[in-house]
Amino acid sequence: MRMRKKKNLDTRCERCSENLLVLRSPELNSDIACESPEYFDYTELFGNDNPVELEIGCGKGQFICELAKRHPNINYIAVEQCRNVIVAAAEKAQNEGLSNIKFFSVPAEYLPRYLHPHSIGRIYLNFSCPFPKSRFKNRRLTHQRFLNKYKLLMADGAEIHQKTDNMQLFEFSIESFSNNGFALKNISLDLHNSGFEGNIVTEYENKFASKGFPIYRLEAFLPNKSDT
Ligand SMILES: C[S@@+](CC[C@H](N)C(=O)[O-])C[C@H]1O[C@@H](n2cnc3c(N)ncnc32)[C@H](O)[C@@H]1O
Repeated sequence: MRMRKKKNLDTRCERCSENLLVLRSPELNSDIACESPEYFDYTELFGNDNPVELEIGCGKGQFICELAKRHPNINYIAVEQCRNVIVAAAEKAQNEGLSNIKFFSVPAEYLPRYLHPHSIGRIYLNFSCPFPKSRFKNRRLTHQRFLNKYKLLMADGAEIHQKTDNMQLFEFSIESFSNNGFALKNISLDLHNSGFEGNIVTEYENKFASKGFPIYRLEAFLPNKSDT
């Protein structure tokens, strides 16, 4: 189902043009689009050379805004394909005066078109849509189709941190990471009762945890070839 465009959406996006970039390449197939890179210059984008991390599917920005507040010396790119949703995240960051986040309104498939190879230190996947029907499994953000794109973006030693309430998606992700050369660490099957410190709760996490659902979490990384 197509989401109805919210009233004043264009005006709201325009007001956030300092931190919200609406990237319109989806007229092309994403693989074809990624063959013609239009890389962002991070120094120009953020006005400094701090390391860059990425959240994919940022929703209304609760997680990324808190993370950016806690780590002012890291730059964050937050990606969300739904403009109706990302505009609220960009407004929140603007209201909170956070200059170390840029929001990209674009499907994640297109990221290698815009982000330099091996330039990202960490990727956050929080409560990604589970796409339970098997025929849509290639839309899951931990499908091989996406993992291959993340590999292009990940710097040496980079990690992917995933949280979800969905056990099927978690199982699928563990298998997908393992089948695609990733190693896993710090796996939790009940994050909120695990003693993990410093967790930043997302909008969806709030909703599911308050209903008593366990939250699953893992960290994935590419082992050094010399270690294997
Ligand atoms: C279930 S919501 C979770 C939002 C937020 N991370 C949270 O935890 O509250 C998942 C979000 O991922 C976005 N999304 C799904 N597939 C995407 C893709 N391929 N590229 C960018 N965003 C995507 C959806 O639009 C949706 O807003």
